[in-house]
Amino acid sequence: MQPRGGRRGAGGEGGGHRLCCCCCFLLESMRLSALALTSSRLLSLGCRTVSPPGARDGARDGAGSGAPTALSFDKPKVELHIHLDGAIRPKTILEVAKRRKIKLPTKNDNQFLKLITCDGPTTLTEMLTKFGYFMPIVAGDRDAIRQIAYELVEDKANEKIVYFEARYSPHLLANCDVYPIPWKQSEGDLSPDEVVRLVNEGFEKGQRNFGIKVRSILSCLRHMEAWSPEVVELCKKYRKDGVVGLDLAGDESINYEPSRGHVQTYQEAVRCGIHRTVHAGEVGPPEVVREAVEILKAERIGHGYSIIKDAKLYQEILQKDIHLEACLYSSYITGACKADFSKHPVVRFMNDGANFSLSTDDPLIFNSTIHTEYNMAAKDMNFTEMQFMRMNLNAARSSFLCENKKKELLNQLRKAYGMPEEPKLDTNLNNYPCL
Ligand SMILES: *[C@@H]1O[C@H](CO)[C@@H](O)[C@H](O)[C@H]1NC(C)=O
Ligand SMILES: *[C@@H]1O[C@H](CO)[C@@H](O)[C@H](O)[C@H]1NC(C)=O
Ligand SMILES: *[C@@H]1O[C@H](CO)[C@@H](O)[C@H](O)[C@H]1NC(C)=O
Repeated sequence: MQPRGGRRGAGGEGGGHRLCCCCCFLLESMRLSALALTSSRLLSLGCRTVSPPGARDGARDGAGSGAPTALSFDKPKVELHIHLDGAIRPKTILEVAKRRKIKLPTKNDNQFLKLITCDGPTTLTEMLTKFGYFMPIVAGDRDAIRQIAYELVEDKANEKIVYFEARYSPHLLANCDVYPIPWKQSEGDLSPDEVVRLVNEGFEKGQRNFGIKVRSILSCLRHMEAWSPEVVELCKKYRKDGVVGLDLAGDESINYEPSRGHVQTYQEAVRCGIHRTVHAGEVGPPEVVREAVEILKAERIGHGYSIIKDAKLYQEILQKDIHLEACLYSSYITGACKADFSKHPVVRFMNDGANFSLSTDDPLIFNSTIHTEYNMAAKDMNFTEMQFMRMNLNAARSSFLCENKKKELLNQLRKAYGMPEEPKLDTNLNNYPCL
């Protein structure tokens, strides 16, 4: 993996962030109250979240709650692409349903768990329907939301993840100040703003108890453009509480034009120094990735597999150090990639020294763990331990942590990997100061 010179620096969206943020903070409360009024004009329903499905015989070593067998990489790891609502413990969903007296659509618990998981290749669209079965159980419930955030930290700590960034749509967990109200819930009193506070609380407590670092990313949805302005406002409002970035999720196979509303939302993020990632090139064509990078100014791409179909774009992505958040097992289940893993785009990424890492995406739906990813990469793609270590260092470098915390994380990994300390960071890189 060659040192590819330019770190994010003077060019692009460099220096101006700190200055403009004060204004952002001043304006934000006014904006938010205005938004509460305007956001009540939406077109479609289709409240789907983000992400893919799946399963594969023999690929799931170490998956599920059972004790993992031989692990391909049992060292500290970083995970950048995981959906909070796609990573809930099955047990918790069942418990919350009982407590809230929500009747399951199946005869028993086991059938319900089968219903919400995918155990073989399907489509992104099909896999997204799974959210429709379990989201109504947790959405709108304060205790459940705090609990799923807290438990995710515990689960990740058990997988030796030392830092992760979890993403979610605050609107999809709310039941007021959101239109349409998702999942056919009746109107309640839990707003997207309060959802973010509850998740922050769960993560904060989890960080204290399990000793790992956690940050969150708020997701806009491709088909829910009217929610997006509030999403970036929430990123600004809660940046001191661990919200570090903006995402765009949804089914790109249905609609991949970055509509005007999303462009403005991403411009606002750039203006305020909010980090940006975008789901693109998962099942959609390379053009979606180009739009994400050139128009939305994404620093990272969720998935991005299709870029290898566009040689010029692929070279640009390599030059620009754009980080690709790859999810192997997910790509198999959603049908984004062919079942022959020796020809998987991630093999290209590795051979070409691309900037990428491995994540679970939606471990609840795939009945998988981070070990599923690493075991597949080791067994089906011949990844070596050194490659895994480099990959994790790249994930840490491409994380949305502020520079000091990033350096801490890099040194923590280097120490665990038996490597020398990270060289001193250039102070010019301090575009994203610790708050
Ligand atoms: C998930 O995987 C575990 C371990 O392989 C298995 O015992 C369990 O039945 C699976 N769950 C579902 C819903 O398929
Ligand atoms: C992994 O190694 C095996 C055995 O040497 C080889 O047949 C296979 O093509 C390799 N796979 C990749 C993705 O390089
Ligand atoms: C990945 O991106 C980060 C952040 O821009 C950079 O520091 C790192 O060197 C990149 N890695 C590769 C392999 O390009």
